Amino acid sequence: MIKRFERNDDVIFQGDVLDVLASEIPNASVDLIFADPPYNLGKNFNGRHDRWESEQAYLDWSFQWLELCLAKLSSTGSLYVMTSTQNMPHFDLYLRDKLHILSRIIWFYDSSGVQAKHRFGSMYEPILYGVKNKKSYTFNANDILVEAKTGAQRKLIDHRKSIPTVYNSQKVPGNVWEFPRVRYRMAEYENHPTQKPIALLERIIQASSRPGDTVLDLFSGTFTTSYVAQQQKRHSIGIEIEEAYVHIGLRRLQIQTQEQDSS
Ligand SMILES: C[S@@+](CC[C@H](N)C(=O)[O-])C[C@H]1O[C@@H](n2cnc3c(N)ncnc32)[C@H](O)[C@@H]1O
Repeated sequence: MIKRFERNDDVIFQGDVLDVLASEIPNASVDLIFADPPYNLGKNFNGRHDRWESEQAYLDWSFQWLELCLAKLSSTGSLYVMTSTQNMPHFDLYLRDKLHILSRIIWFYDSSGVQAKHRFGSMYEPILYGVKNKKSYTFNANDILVEAKTGAQRKLIDHRKSIPTVYNSQKVPGNVWEFPRVRYRMAEYENHPTQKPIALLERIIQASSRPGDTVLDLFSGTFTTSYVAQQQKRHSIGIEIEEAYVHIGLRRLQIQTQEQDSS
């Protein structure tokens, strides 16, 4: 069964991602998709165990929703997808024939939750970024500029230019993004094991969508994507199977709970 909650530009679907995508989201209707699925690492999502019987079973399931994603993206749409470091090569090989991969992003954070003592601890998660049409897609470079450290900070002069000029003080971020993970006691913290930071979604939404565009998150969790989309005046659609997490979304998006049964 699918439940639908809505207010102004924001929609939340409570249900299984494959059912919601197939029955509720029109093809070619979404400008930006963010997908942060369970990673098949055994996390506990409110009692739902994140573990498939085999890696192949996990990949078969993932390829089903990835295929649906591609159908839902508009002809100028963009997709950002996350998974574990060990599964990302499979996602990459699967997707590179079906859309244009523009960046392989590393989200780097300062320390792992549990400090490894007998190997190098895990301090990053990969994000694959691709677009449907490499000749026509949204990339708002000026909205995501960061401080350029090399050259500019040392006030170096670039003598290769016809008129020597100081180095640029701002630049488009590279593909290694450093944002702290969301921790207990941070203002944005919600009770969820894999909440993504607001700053991470701000960069993605500001880079790859415009005000009025539709942003879809397949596995919303704490609804960080929808929350940022709302702040940035985009339309948001969030899908989540767990009722407890849907309640977080309803609160963060300030949607009243007069649900409509979609099925
Ligand atoms: C990695 S978390 C997403 C975290 C989210 N990006 C955030 O910032 O909070 C994955 C989420 O997918 C949900 N989920 C798992 N299986 C699902 C399914 N079949 N359909 C929809 N949601 C599902 C889990 O309950 C979990 O909240």
